[in-house]
Amino acid sequence: MAIERTLSILKPDATRRNLTGKINAKFEEQGLRIVAQKRLQLSEAQAGAFYAVHKERPFYKDLVSFMTSGPVVVQVLEGENAVAKNREIMGATNPANAAEGTIRKEFAESIEANSVHGSDSAENAATEIAFFFSGTEIVG
Ligand code: PPS
Repeated sequence: MAIERTLSILKPDATRRNLTGKINAKFEEQGLRIVAQKRLQLSEAQAGAFYAVHKERPFYKDLVSFMTSGPVVVQVLEGENAVAKNREIMGATNPANAAEGTIRKEFAESIEANSVHGSDSAENAATEIAFFFSGTEIVG
């Protein structure tokens, strides 16, 4: 299987509740390595650009407002099949539909405050990683 990288964000609801260590433990226990990580306060412009794909969705404004409501931790996770594996570890977008043992089942508060973001394809992962990290900030 291919070694991949994916972009992960620990969202403001997770940093607010001091859950970053518990969430990182889930990634590491399940074979993903954190090869880059930084804590940021996103500006409205940054969050708006990151979620531009959802610009026409009714929840876009609220999503940008939520993602700028407190610090986030942006990370690059590396491992076999990392994109799909991370989505499995995160669970469904809506915690009401998330499987037992997933991050969102355990920690998410709502479809908006759902604790984590993960890239949904290898192609998007490359774009999203480049959005936050320069090559020298990623140490495998
Ligand atoms: S969807 O509905 O299948 O398109 O959802 P998805 O593409 O997986 O993720 C949409 C992101 O927007 C956040 N968000 C919401 N989604 C749906 N409905 C509402 N009301 C909503 N509010 C916020 C959701 O958490 C997803 O964030 P990311 O960071 O991409 O996981």
